[in-house]
Amino acid sequence: MTIAILFVCLGNICRSPLAEAALRAEAERRGLDIEVDSAGTGDWHVGHPPDPRARAVAGRNGVDISHLRARQVTGEDFHRFDHIVALDRENFAGLEAMRPAGARARLSLLLDHVPGREGEAVADPYHGDDSHFDASWADVTAGAAGLARRLSEGR
Ligand code: 4NP
Repeated sequence: MTIAILFVCLGNICRSPLAEAALRAEAERRGLDIEVDSAGTGDWHVGHPPDPRARAVAGRNGVDISHLRARQVTGEDFHRFDHIVALDRENFAGLEAMRPAGARARLSLLLDHVPGREGEAVADPYHGDDSHFDASWADVTAGAAGLARRLSEGR
């Protein structure tokens, strides 16, 4: 059975596309059958490709994310996805507030899946420089590895 995972940040042009790419790569390595997507709680960047700095850090790590396009999270996503994974606490709170009755998706914070980093946020790199995007990449790859391990164990 395919497990569907949605990553959610604010703009869907920096952190969540990176998380999407990192989990897809991790799933491929592990032979995990999953569907991965990402979205933003905000609508400013709908239809836009990932931020050039996000495309650059993905490229430095051997992944191409230039085909991705931003979209806003919807109520329907709570019925379509098994897991909705927020990149930070503000977006987690926004998702909790819009969660429809009878939602199937389990909500979590990405770094909840990394032992010892529960409750931590992936910091917003939008107003930062390349070093902030390198930190985002390190965080999302750690989160993706922890999440993939959990999914492969059926948790
Ligand atoms: P993201 O980063 O949530 O990781 O995609 C941001 C992108 C855009 C904005 C803020 C954060 N913005 O304010 O437009």
